[in-house]
Amino acid sequence: MGLRRTAWVCLLICAASAHAEDGYDLWLRYRPIEAPWAGHYRSFATEVVAAPGANLAARELLRGMAGMLYATPMVSSRITRDGAIVLRTPGSAGDLGANLNDLRTLGPEGYLIRSIQVHGRRATLIAANSDIGVLHGAYGLMRLMQTRQPLEALNLRESPRIPHRILDHWDNLDGTIERGYAGASIWNWQTLPDYPGPRYADYARACASIGINGAVLNNVNADAISLTPQYLEKAAALARVFRPYGVKVYLSARFTAPIEIGGLKSADPLDEAVRAWWRNKADEIYRTIPDFGGFLVKANSEGQPGPQDYGRSHADGANMLATALAPHGGIVMWRAFVYSAHQNEDRAKQAYDEFVPLDGQFDANVLLQVKNGAIDFQPREPGHPLFGAMPKTPLMLEVQITKEYLGFATHLVYLGPLYEEALRFETQRNGAGSIAKAIDGMAGVSNIGTMRNWTGSQFDQANWYVFGRLAWNPELSSRAIAEEWVRMTFSNDNRFVAPTVAMMMGSREAAVDYMTPLGLAHLMAAGHHYGPGPWQGGGTRADWTPPYYHRADADGIGFDRSMTGSDAASQYAQPLAAEFEDPKLTPEKYLLWFHHLSWDYPMASGRTLWDELVIHYSRGVEYVREMRRTWATLTPYVDSERYAETSAFLAIQEKEARWWRDACIAYFQSISKRPLPAGYAPPEHTLAEYEAIFTPYAPGNPGWTAAPFRH
Ligand code: GCU
Repeated sequence: MGLRRTAWVCLLICAASAHAEDGYDLWLRYRPIEAPWAGHYRSFATEVVAAPGANLAARELLRGMAGMLYATPMVSSRITRDGAIVLRTPGSAGDLGANLNDLRTLGPEGYLIRSIQVHGRRATLIAANSDIGVLHGAYGLMRLMQTRQPLEALNLRESPRIPHRILDHWDNLDGTIERGYAGASIWNWQTLPDYPGPRYADYARACASIGINGAVLNNVNADAISLTPQYLEKAAALARVFRPYGVKVYLSARFTAPIEIGGLKSADPLDEAVRAWWRNKADEIYRTIPDFGGFLVKANSEGQPGPQDYGRSHADGANMLATALAPHGGIVMWRAFVYSAHQNEDRAKQAYDEFVPLDGQFDANVLLQVKNGAIDFQPREPGHPLFGAMPKTPLMLEVQITKEYLGFATHLVYLGPLYEEALRFETQRNGAGSIAKAIDGMAGVSNIGTMRNWTGSQFDQANWYVFGRLAWNPELSSRAIAEEWVRMTFSNDNRFVAPTVAMMMGSREAAVDYMTPLGLAHLMAAGHHYGPGPWQGGGTRADWTPPYYHRADADGIGFDRSMTGSDAASQYAQPLAAEFEDPKLTPEKYLLWFHHLSWDYPMASGRTLWDELVIHYSRGVEYVREMRRTWATLTPYVDSERYAETSAFLAIQEKEARWWRDACIAYFQSISKRPLPAGYAPPEHTLAEYEAIFTPYAPGNPGWTAAPFRH
């Protein structure tokens, strides 16, 4: 009988572990923990001692313990046994007051986790200044379990270094997502506000678990309708769901909303009627959503209306909105992503030229939101020269989590190293230090949609995860975060963890190599940006075409941004500017971003630029092949469903990396007229065949597939 019972249990456990996973649970899977860890953790989770406000944190802990430890700790209001988890805020400190003395420096969202003894009983204290802080602490404690860390003698203090950590959803009101590759918008505007379905809480929970504290619900290319009373009610329903998780709701505001939904004749920011309209609108919003975060604004950029349409400056526009929001504590995130259709100036220079003279003119509740690089979320860009250059203006760093320029959801590209590179980019400006030190906010363009796995692929969940974790603590390494994510999302077996983390860590560099090596940028096909299109000139705007960026001609390749060219290098502080001015000093990863060089230019390797280009393209493809080989060895450690999806996507990635390499080499060779270095395979097809590839319905490009409008 005993034997039969064991066999049954074994069968059940085996069936459970082989059970396919669809990825919906993200890194919060809370799967059973193996011995001996399970025993260790059980002895630290015998009961949850919670004050009434900490209900959500207590619930989350119970959920975690049930899943990970098959245990249901008691919930009580005081410590009754060894091994309690005690949740406390200053209001509920009780006789633990002395332990809470040093909470002050943790701010409203931070927490501490500390091993304590209370009346001879062993306990783990999670303390914070607010219930949100306690919730973060609960996730922090469970992360230790999920990644198999011991729970003895804990003394952790955590608080976010960057106050605003926000996901920007480029979701349209019709349910499509600009640059979204994971299905439709998760906001179902039709059933809101009456049906705030379960996915919204699951979303907020995932955000809270990594410290994200805001969500801009709608596309920066905004529809004024989102500010109508009907839609504010819908946003308010989401805000109600998000509130207990510490996630605030923000909206993208269309600058001409006073005309489009307000019946005014103008949107001039200095017109008193316009200003009053925004003031009233802000009052109305706060009546509906009392903790509304504020507005995100894309103005005078890529056809969006803005203050310049009325002869006013960006500061005039931003301050008008800031004045309306200020009495309620709201902020304006004004985007610096501007470049004009009517200027010949290098697109990379325009934001700096436009905004630096305005430093000091913005109201205190305006943050300028600056993309990581001066062009547009490319696989690699040098840091944006605006960072550090506007000391009187709070700046936000904007990165893309969705992979518009990095192979959409099918390519396995872990963006941690890209974010880390951006955050650590040394501005060298008046001691300002790195970009991480120069910012008060971080915005990530979301990669979330209605697909069951949220992000379109299992591995793109890691990009949502690393964004949150780095925004919380930019000092963390992207490698450590990758490891954490792999352990929580897949397995703690080192035979899986080590190769998977290694594979992820090199994946971004591989994408740079097979798409845009050595400082090249924007070689993607026009409009949808899916696949290569370096030959695609023409159209309405040169700066939306790849030839504008690569400038390949018989003499060489690259964009001259030194003094002999656009002089964009001079926008950086010294000694960085001098470094970027001289091709010999410019790091090779940025070489063709700053210089137009002969195909025969001698590289550090001793090879010519042309040969290096081919070698980089080939290396990128080889890395993807290697990822496939690695993944093929990992079958024993992953459930079949997630294994199969990743396998299939890696096969797509290999095919497309090859497409990128071959198409780019075929095209550049038609200009360089150089032979391929010995041992490197020629492109599989002719250039004409690559040029003929047509992708009319690539995702993420709503409305303007055939006639690209933006680039
Ligand atoms: C890119 C992207 C657009 C988006 C724009 C922005 O250009 O292709 O879809 O609107 O960035 O950041 O505003």
